[in-house]
Amino acid sequence: MGETMTFKDKRIILTGAAGGIGEALARQLAAEGARLALADINAEGLGLVAEACRRSGSETIEILTDVTDREQCQALVARAVEAWGGVDILLSNAGVSMRARFDEVTDISFFERLMAINYFGPLYCTYYALPYLKESLGRIVVVTSSAGKLGAPMHTGYAASKHALHGFFDSLRTELAGTGVGITLVAPMYVKTGIRRHRFEADGSHPSVDPYHDSKSKSMTAEQAAGIIIRSARKGKREVNISFELKAGVKLKPFVPGIIDYFVRRKVDPV
Ligand SMILES: NC(=O)c1ccc[n+]([C@@H]2O[C@H](COP(=O)([O-])OP(=O)(O)OC[C@H]3O[C@@H](n4cnc5c(N)ncnc54)[C@H](OP(=O)(O)O)[C@@H]3O)[C@@H](O)[C@H]2O)c1
Repeated sequence: MGETMTFKDKRIILTGAAGGIGEALARQLAAEGARLALADINAEGLGLVAEACRRSGSETIEILTDVTDREQCQALVARAVEAWGGVDILLSNAGVSMRARFDEVTDISFFERLMAINYFGPLYCTYYALPYLKESLGRIVVVTSSAGKLGAPMHTGYAASKHALHGFFDSLRTELAGTGVGITLVAPMYVKTGIRRHRFEADGSHPSVDPYHDSKSKSMTAEQAAGIIIRSARKGKREVNISFELKAGVKLKPFVPGIIDYFVRRKVDPV
């Protein structure tokens, strides 16, 4: 895939499409003429985004999907294959976050939910889409996080689920060498989306009001993040760490881990 490669007519499965980065991805890919199978648990948001994509001329279908459910992931892939005979790109974007010190957590069960959505979701979708991606010499694109590269205070379970993605997909990439299937991992840092509204707090509940406050001048918009993700996929990148700070942190951590930890401690809110 080169920089001039276009997503026109590409058959793309996109999870977490009802809002935030997923919605921006859907809109930008639709504008390029991609054929989209949009998935999310939020039926209303999903319908609105799918409608907007169709209005911009894209052949778009929406499939209500909870990515923690193996059968629903299987059905999602089957639906895309039924519509277009195959899959060119699987874009695993759905994810949820948390904010709590580990020693203050009162309901530990939400750690399983984080793993189920952020790790098992992409794993199940990949499992069912892989035979078709091999046929089309396609690409798996996964949205991870800065927390999945450097860790983050208040985000132990989230960071673990995103680290798991890097371990899984780096390993899968070695297995897929020579098959023509590529894997792109993209790690954003601060993006203005609704993710904080749905994050898990210490007792497993979600905040009653959107806790996002625009104090982080370095936050990017969902549209900017989506643009980088699409560009990374187009260029066939292995891994893209969005933001200079993250890039520098990843490069320097093996040499000065204590200093990187110091900076990570000061940046409490990767999502
Ligand atoms: N925003 C950031 O600063 C940031 C930074 C680093 C990485 N990321 C990553 O970027 C990705 C997109 O996040 P975002 O910021 O766009 O969040 P978002 O605005 O909350 O969008 C995530 C979407 O995924 C959906 N979803 C949640 N659980 C699901 C499930 N079980 N099955 C299917 N869909 C599900 C959500 O539905 P509901 O709205 O109904 O929950 C929502 O529509 C995530 O993987 C996130 O970890 C975000």
